Amino acid sequence: MTTPARAAICRGNSQPFSIEDVELDALRPDELRVRMVACGVCHTDMAVRDEQLPVPHPVVLGHEGAGIVEEVGSAVTVAKPGDRVVMSFNSCGSCPSCDIDAPTYCYNFFPHNWSGTRADGSPVMFQNGETMNANFFGQSSFATHAIAHQANTVKVPDSAAAIPLERIAPIGCGLMTGAGAVLRSMKVRKGMPIAIFGAGTVGMAAVMAAKIAGADPIIAVDVNDARLELAKELGATHAFNAKDDAIAKIKELVPQGLGYVLDTTGINSVIEGAWALLAPKGICGIVGASDPADNLTFNEAAMMGGGRTVMGILGGDSDVGPFLTELLDYHVKGQFPFEKLIGYFDFDQINEAIHASEDGSVVKPVLRISAE
Ligand SMILES: NC(=O)c1ccc[n+]([C@@H]2O[C@H](COP(=O)([O-])OP(=O)(O)OC[C@H]3O[C@@H](n4cnc5c(N)ncnc54)[C@H](O)[C@@H]3O)[C@@H](O)[C@H]2O)c1
Ligand SMILES: [Zn+2]
Ligand SMILES: [Zn+2]
Repeated sequence: MTTPARAAICRGNSQPFSIEDVELDALRPDELRVRMVACGVCHTDMAVRDEQLPVPHPVVLGHEGAGIVEEVGSAVTVAKPGDRVVMSFNSCGSCPSCDIDAPTYCYNFFPHNWSGTRADGSPVMFQNGETMNANFFGQSSFATHAIAHQANTVKVPDSAAAIPLERIAPIGCGLMTGAGAVLRSMKVRKGMPIAIFGAGTVGMAAVMAAKIAGADPIIAVDVNDARLELAKELGATHAFNAKDDAIAKIKELVPQGLGYVLDTTGINSVIEGAWALLAPKGICGIVGASDPADNLTFNEAAMMGGGRTVMGILGGDSDVGPFLTELLDYHVKGQFPFEKLIGYFDFDQINEAIHASEDGSVVKPVLRISAE
């Protein structure tokens, strides 16, 4: 039996998102139906809208959802009806990456997250009896209800019972990526210098995580002065505007070079400039979505001679359940105050929320979809 829902349909960048009636398919054994309370808006939603990623249109996007479980399939153990849950990316559970708890690098990432259907090709959503592309990141949470999976659903721990779901919603993508890049992928060491390029959701999460890791100094670089101020509030010891010769200022501040640089801008020249700041054994982490045609150039002798690393990072090497629980624990203790990034919008203001993300006025817009 199908379940009626309302979902924001994306038909490309020439039309605004439109909230329309849809139906959700009956659940498979490993699936959960979640009544959505809130969903964050992320740049990846816009990248798909603009056809920079190979997700078929029209499509229901949204991949930072949180809500209450309504029904579960027979094989689901991660949550039960009535539980508060947050969702992240989906994975297959049985490939060489999933086998070593590295599901962000799942060999079957595309069919489980971006194909518009379940991995077996069956639709999860319909409109007027026709297939509607959905199952985006295994959720499609720009909707009143979503089908999620055992692999990408996390029960909010009792220790976070007092934190509203509308605040928790965005933790499963950009926040997880920035924090995980620092704590899990690069494993930033206490007392080591780090520079973070781009102070959006991902960069701000990296700044907060660098403070947790005890990095020093923590240097934020952006072109937006308001964001640089917020980065300082969240833990950056220094903040430089990229338009104001930030590279020279970093060299002056840390003449021996940086232990870590993290790029969240996806801009070729920014990554190459950041890489050149590394000390021996330094790591340059790359998370920003870039033009698919871009290539990077590094000096081979400097890379080999200094044992330097360039590291592509997806989802901050999160293993979903354990890492999101760890981040919520930091949040409860006041060490990961990501609420400072959030601006709330009603579900029917989804186009305004997207605009606020694109013009930089709100770091992390979150849609309020239903009352908790
Ligand atoms: N790898 C992953 O797993 C993953 C996960 C989530 C998001 N992303 C990608 O990461 C990127 C960052 O995401 P976000 O949500 O933080 O985006 P964002 O747009 O909020 O942040 C990017 C920041 O970079 C700044 N910037 C622009 N030009 C700059 C320059 N020349 N120097 C320094 N800063 C500059 C912008 O002002 C902005 O504050 C996006 O491309 C997003 O698609 C990747
Ligand atoms: Zn995202
Ligand atoms: Zn896998």
